Amino acid sequence: MTAQLNARGDVAVLVPAAGAGLRLGPGGPKALRLLAGEPLLVHAVRRIAAAPSVRLIVVAAPAAEVEAVRDLLAPIAAVTVVAGGAERQHSVAAALAVVPPEVGIVLVHDAARALTPPELIESVAAAVRSGRPAVIPVLPVVDTIKEVALDVLVDAAAGPEAADGVAGQLDGARVEVVVGTIDRSVLRSVQTPQGFRREVLAAAHAAGLGAHTDDAGMVERAGVPVSCVPGSELAMKITRPLDLVIAEALLPVA
Ligand code: CTP
Ligand code: MG
Repeated sequence: MTAQLNARGDVAVLVPAAGAGLRLGPGGPKALRLLAGEPLLVHAVRRIAAAPSVRLIVVAAPAAEVEAVRDLLAPIAAVTVVAGGAERQHSVAAALAVVPPEVGIVLVHDAARALTPPELIESVAAAVRSGRPAVIPVLPVVDTIKEVALDVLVDAAAGPEAADGVAGQLDGARVEVVVGTIDRSVLRSVQTPQGFRREVLAAAHAAGLGAHTDDAGMVERAGVPVSCVPGSELAMKITRPLDLVIAEALLPVA
């Protein structure tokens, strides 16, 4: 049985939460790590449940933690918990498999974006409802981005007279060298929730699981237009230890 949150809602939110959190350092699955005393997953689910369009939430938990996650989330919201898979896309597929066919809009939202405001969930859902088949929240890229390649450093200054200088010692080292500078005005950082008409996401998954770091990547490859809505700084992904510090500082406004 799929637990139902709000009978009038038309949106299912799939929450992949089965990752190990390796980049966060030692300490167990990332979704269960604490932020101000509560697991990231609790922060995330509380905010999803506060979005009025959400009819049901399906969490893909680490296989060994399914029962524990059910108990953890029971006081927070009516949530269905399934076992996730080895890759993020497998976790998404496992969650998608239990969404009842009558739910027309499916959002996929990382547990690691624990402070995502309900308003962003509503804005992605509204864009899909308005007829857009696939919608992603994005932010402008703030850093200058360079394309690099591994190359053997040839010391241009290493003429016969410079052969025993410091620069000459670098000659022949394998280093990253800049191939070009990418025009960042056309680049966007992509967040979740990513929203889809249900059949669009289901077709992309049915077509096979390529290696993609987001769901829109699969849908793009299927030739479906993916459009953007403004993202939120609060939807930052907690990936590295510094992100936990930043998230804790954001909590009073999130
Ligand atoms: N995820 C998942 N199943 C996996 C891998 C990832 O459900 N097999 C989820 C994570 O729990 C997270 C989201 O996908 O909520 C985004 O992944 P990421 O930030 O990479 O989290 P982890 O894979 O846990 O972290 P890391 O890559 O550092 O191990
Ligand atoms: Mg990962």
